[in-house]
Amino acid sequence: MGQAKASVIRSDLDIVIARTIARDTARSLGFGAIDQARIATAVSELARNIFLYAGTGSVTVCEIERNGRRGLEIMCEDQGPGIANIDLVMQDGYSTSRGMGMGLPGAKRLMDEFDIRSQEGQGTTITCRKWRI
Ligand SMILES: Nc1ncnc2c1ncn2[C@@H]1O[C@H](COP(=O)(O)OP(=O)(O)OP(=O)(O)O)[C@@H](O)[C@H]1O
Ligand SMILES: [Mg+2]
Repeated sequence: MGQAKASVIRSDLDIVIARTIARDTARSLGFGAIDQARIATAVSELARNIFLYAGTGSVTVCEIERNGRRGLEIMCEDQGPGIANIDLVMQDGYSTSRGMGMGLPGAKRLMDEFDIRSQEGQGTTITCRKWRI
């Protein structure tokens, strides 16, 4: 198993770096080009949310294994304002920033597993996984 790769998100450039790390890790794990793009897009959206709504946070990419299957896990953590209503933010088109409101529901669709935990005033942790076929 490879080492977890953590990146701190505090600027636009960090979003690009996290995206690149995710894509490179996906490629090294044997994901095809389309899955590499899906994973990179999900990381990019989640990292952008950290930057926009929490200011700073981290994105960690690591290799995982379950029942003999290999995959990639992305963990996004911040100590920002948190999310009061998770069902609401997971709806297509909901945005508090005049965005498209597609980042979270889109990232969920691009990954196989998606778990979001948040407490108002405490921060948000999103863990998502993609399994190799
Ligand atoms: N890390 C976070 N901390 C606090 N609030 C968040 C966080 N991520 C998302 N949100 C909230 O969830 C809403 C929906 O996020 P989502 O990424 O789906 O859409 P968006 O960022 O508004 O627009 P888009 O991503 O399409 O440009 C955001 O508008 C924001 O209110
Ligand atoms: Mg967004």
